[in-house]
Amino acid sequence: MFLSTAFLALASMLGSAQAATYRRTDSVQGTQFNDWFDYQNIRDPTNGRVNYVDRNTAISQNLTFAGGDTFILRADSTRVVQANQAGRDSVRIRSKKTFSTHVAVFDVRHMPQGCGTWPAIWETLEAGWPNGGEVDILEGVNDVGPNAATLHTTPGCTMPAHAAQGMTGSWKQMDCNWLVNGNAGCGAYMRERRSYGPAFNQNGGGVYALERAPNYMKVWFWPRGVAPPRDIGTANVNPDTWGAPEVYFPDTQCNLREKFAANHIIINLTLCGDWAGAVYPGTCPSNCVNHVNTNPGAFREAYFDFKSINIYQL
Ligand SMILES: *[C@@H]1O[C@H](CO)[C@@H](O)[C@H](O)[C@H]1NC(C)=O
Ligand SMILES: *[C@@H]1O[C@H](CO)[C@@H](O)[C@H](O)[C@H]1NC(C)=O
Repeated sequence: MFLSTAFLALASMLGSAQAATYRRTDSVQGTQFNDWFDYQNIRDPTNGRVNYVDRNTAISQNLTFAGGDTFILRADSTRVVQANQAGRDSVRIRSKKTFSTHVAVFDVRHMPQGCGTWPAIWETLEAGWPNGGEVDILEGVNDVGPNAATLHTTPGCTMPAHAAQGMTGSWKQMDCNWLVNGNAGCGAYMRERRSYGPAFNQNGGGVYALERAPNYMKVWFWPRGVAPPRDIGTANVNPDTWGAPEVYFPDTQCNLREKFAANHIIINLTLCGDWAGAVYPGTCPSNCVNHVNTNPGAFREAYFDFKSINIYQL
């Protein structure tokens, strides 16, 4: 009895010694998005039916729009795409900076929706991928929720069954190795149904947060109307006070320090491609590529509306 009480006291001291207060280092809103991120007019690595445009094209075609506390990023919804073109104009942006231990908070009002859409907010190091790891914070296809948060790594990284006790979401796959399960990664569905797609948008979006600590990662989501922790939006945050995350990735069977390098934050919106195209539902019109080519008006809701991104570091 004495021993276990002493042990608990010690464990709680250790726990509070580790309790981290992160300080805000970056606050990105409105026009600041255009300087904080690079526009990547590259061929889509996931073979989507998109044409990622450069910064000038995006701004002049209003595919991105920045003002006040709004940053919009969208796919074109006005033009028919010809068969010989790469795809529908869209946007992919990547942070100029890279981050290791940090907290990233994304306040999002609207996310891309519609048949064939495959939006993502994620972090990776593309050079040498997947050696620097990948964490997908918000990602999905064809409006199917809830959101799943996922890691992709080199072999030798799995999630333990006990992780489920520290989170509200539920595991989909537990091996993070990109070489198995068709690179599905280790990911868990969030319990909150309003974390993705039409349900997310109808509710006015919400706040996503990632904590990447040296020995774990956690992802939270607070739908609009559910107050996020009070320190969010202030100069310092302490995620230890935020309660159980939706998804918890501990390092017990995965050396996160080795599997993850400093990563960029990337926001992309592709259409069809390796995932959304492969599981394009029968409830959507024709096939994915034809739908994208011929129905510009179907992409009016295919946009992100960001209120802000805040980054906190130790
Ligand atoms: C550009 O997009 C913004 C946000 O959706 C909108 O308010 C504005 O009217 C658009 N501008 C033009 C010229 O279409
Ligand atoms: C964005 O591109 C990366 C590949 O660089 C891919 O892993 C990710 O799934 C893509 N997501 C979207 C939505 O395009």
